Amino acid sequence: MKIISFVTRKGGSGKSTLTINLGIAAELSGERVLFLDCDEQNTLSKWAERREAETPIFEIIADQIQLKEALKEAAEGDFSIVIIDTPGFNVPIVHDVIRHSDLCLVPTRPSTADIEAMASVLLAIKAERRDFAFVVNQASSVARSMEASAGLKALGDVCPIMIGARVALQDAIDTGWGISEFQQRGKASREFAALWDWVKNRLNTTVTDGKLGLKGSS
Ligand SMILES: Nc1ncnc2c1ncn2[C@@H]1O[C@H](COP(=O)(O)OP(=O)(O)O)[C@@H](O)[C@H]1O
Ligand SMILES: [Mg+2]
Repeated sequence: MKIISFVTRKGGSGKSTLTINLGIAAELSGERVLFLDCDEQNTLSKWAERREAETPIFEIIADQIQLKEALKEAAEGDFSIVIIDTPGFNVPIVHDVIRHSDLCLVPTRPSTADIEAMASVLLAIKAERRDFAFVVNQASSVARSMEASAGLKALGDVCPIMIGARVALQDAIDTGWGISEFQQRGKASREFAALWDWVKNRLNTTVTDGKLGLKGSS
């Protein structure tokens, strides 16, 4: 079982959107996905409640003790992937989530404000020596996104798959679907399938404990 988290302090950068759609892309590729919602805004669990399908299973996590228990139970159960959504502020549970993650994904819109806002989460990830990568989200212009990506590369690895700004992603969330179910042949669906492929490959090629696991910058 591998644990992926979406972390960054900047609200609105796409943590919940990416959690949901990466999870559904993973499920459609055959993974057994558990979602953990650590954000009291509950974007992820409200989406799951709107959903007719019974999977992925989700759990609302209120504190560090519940997080530990949920991960222990998940490891004893039948899940292959746990994806954790986190709040957009610096609370102790985010540090615990990072500590337990095999891969921390840091979503960012291609804007200076978003990039500046991630300093504290990068410090936490590096302190825990976790593997991480940036994911550029809401990429609306290629030039802007490439520029942001170049700036981010100085800080750590950047996922080569960028997620475009697409209204269909909002419509899918409003109706309890993942984009890969809602618009199977759309561009966003292809982007999330590619993102899942990239993440899976990264998880399988990373030694997750100790120094060897640390990719990105030092
Ligand atoms: N790639 C995207 N295209 C269009 N809208 C997006 C995209 N990513 C996020 N959004 C929208 O931006 C808002 C904030 O996204 P959300 O995932 O809730 O961010 P966070 O969880 O980091 O606060 C939501 O209204 C969401 O629908
Ligand atoms: Mg959110």
